Amino acid sequence: MEERKVKVATRHLTKNFGELKVLDDISFDVMEGEFLCIVGPTGCGKTTFLNCLTKLYEITNGEILVDGKPIDCKKNSISYILQENSAMEWLTVEENIRFGLDIRKADPELKRQRVEEMLEIVGLKDYRNYYPSQLSVSMLQRTVIARAFATHPELLLMDEPYGQLDLDLRFKLEDELIKLWKQTGTTVIFITHNVEEAIYLGERIMVLTNKPTKVKEFLDCDLPRPRDVASDEFVALRNKVTELIRWW
Ligand SMILES: Nc1ncnc2c1ncn2[C@@H]1O[C@H](COP(=O)(O)OP(=O)(O)O)[C@@H](O)[C@H]1O
Ligand SMILES: [Mg+2]
Repeated sequence: MEERKVKVATRHLTKNFGELKVLDDISFDVMEGEFLCIVGPTGCGKTTFLNCLTKLYEITNGEILVDGKPIDCKKNSISYILQENSAMEWLTVEENIRFGLDIRKADPELKRQRVEEMLEIVGLKDYRNYYPSQLSVSMLQRTVIARAFATHPELLLMDEPYGQLDLDLRFKLEDELIKLWKQTGTTVIFITHNVEEAIYLGERIMVLTNKPTKVKEFLDCDLPRPRDVASDEFVALRNKVTELIRWW
């Protein structure tokens, strides 16, 4: 198998809020192009980890490196899809998708190409001039994903983006996400507290403990896609992770 480079190196990461120890000496690597899912109980520090990575929070101890260097939000291209819905209400679908490219002052022809490519992939060509308030939940979420991928980010961070959605829609959007990930080769860190979602998506699953939070276990997940949630292998893996979580 082809050797992959380390994309994100987390070394002895500790994060306290005052007296509260949230992340406790955590070390792990995310490989380039990998799709890593992180599962852990509510309040264990999943969002805190992403906020440390993007420097929204100051790290108490340790470091997080991207390509071997401390992250530089000006140089590194990172898309972050937050837990809350984050389509910009005052922009149309097309303008939402173009937003990251506008910020980076991308070449007009490249912008046009990327926007068309994204509209095509997420099936929103006919809705390009709609505003978020005119869209269904599904279209809204697809707009958000398209915006995140439009810059071809080297790193895509997703924080429980589909937590509030019904099952059917979630699977559709997850398939969409996998399609985009395969086409772009982006490294994805996807956070969820939903075991089934993690196994449906991830190439590797990192299970976290309760606070003070450590890595409980890593599991590889190489089931063929699209994954069959009813297959024996899927169910076995789901049970295994659920069991790990039971001993939090
Ligand atoms: N800015 C903050 N100030 C103080 N405590 C915080 C802050 N952000 C998160 N926490 C605490 O850190 C813990 C982890 O929170 P969070 O990362 O949001 O958990 P998760 O995303 O895994 O549900 C919680 O106990 C939360 O109250
Ligand atoms: Mg969270």
